Amino acid sequence: MDRDQRSEISNQAPCPILATSLCRKGGKARRSTGISRLTAVVALTALLFLAGCRQDMQNQPKIRSERGSEIFADQRGARPQVANTVARGQLHEDTYFYTGVVQAADGYREEKDEMPFPVTLDVLRRGQERFNIYCAPCHSRVGNGMGEIVRRGFKPAANFQDSVRLSQPISHYFYAMTYGYNAMPDYAAQLAPADRWAVAAYIRALQLSQAAKVEDVPTGVQLKSLKEIAREKHLPESFAEPWAMPSVNPADSAITSSASNPATAAAK
Ligand code: HEC
Repeated sequence: MDRDQRSEISNQAPCPILATSLCRKGGKARRSTGISRLTAVVALTALLFLAGCRQDMQNQPKIRSERGSEIFADQRGARPQVANTVARGQLHEDTYFYTGVVQAADGYREEKDEMPFPVTLDVLRRGQERFNIYCAPCHSRVGNGMGEIVRRGFKPAANFQDSVRLSQPISHYFYAMTYGYNAMPDYAAQLAPADRWAVAAYIRALQLSQAAKVEDVPTGVQLKSLKEIAREKHLPESFAEPWAMPSVNPADSAITSSASNPATAAAK
């Protein structure tokens, strides 16, 4: 690039954007430049001063949380709750429904083998749905404690078919969901109390179904083998096969092997 070319380019260069009004075509300054600049400076200074102004509403005679106050004798702005008052919508009068325990005569909390509301098919369906979402990942869909997360190394979750769990009152399941249990986190945030009860009821249904005998089937109902069901539903042959369990350290849990129980594979 020679010198002539370069000077031509610089002549064609547009005005800087901000200074557009102060420029004329070709980049030459207007005569009124000095006045415009003065106006701009005055306007900006005025803006600066105005920004400092505010309405009196800014200063209100109110107490800010956690700040001191001269009004009260203890000089605390935050007031303690008034004894024996309950916030709207938080009157959990039915203690059993909300906690899964009742106060026993000896002062201890006691679990009960009792649902706080009637169990209908809808309740069980809701329980099944929630169980399969929140519990099956660890406890498996049949509740034997061998869900996918456990198969990948998590501590074996409780097997709802073992003698310990079979003898627990139903509200114990509610309690475990509400407060967690050892390695198991609580599910109070994910499941509202009514849903926790529905899941507890469904665990009972699972316990029944996994130990069901042919005699339990009502007369007139036709029984089908898993192989037949698999064929009908175009599922792979392996669907009806026993569920292979990973080996578990017996010291870790009281998991009983239900690997050879074909009924276990039904709900897989
Ligand atoms: C992240 C895995 C995981 C999930 C998800 C999970 N659990 Fe558990 N659960 C466990 C483990 C692990 C144990 C055994 C805890 C222990 O013994 O340390 C357990 C134990 C239990 C027990 C037995 C308590 C006892 O006293 O023996 C119950 C009941 C239970 N879970 C219910 C549920 C329910 C209901 C859900 C779904 C809302 C659920 N769990 C979801 C891992 C899980």
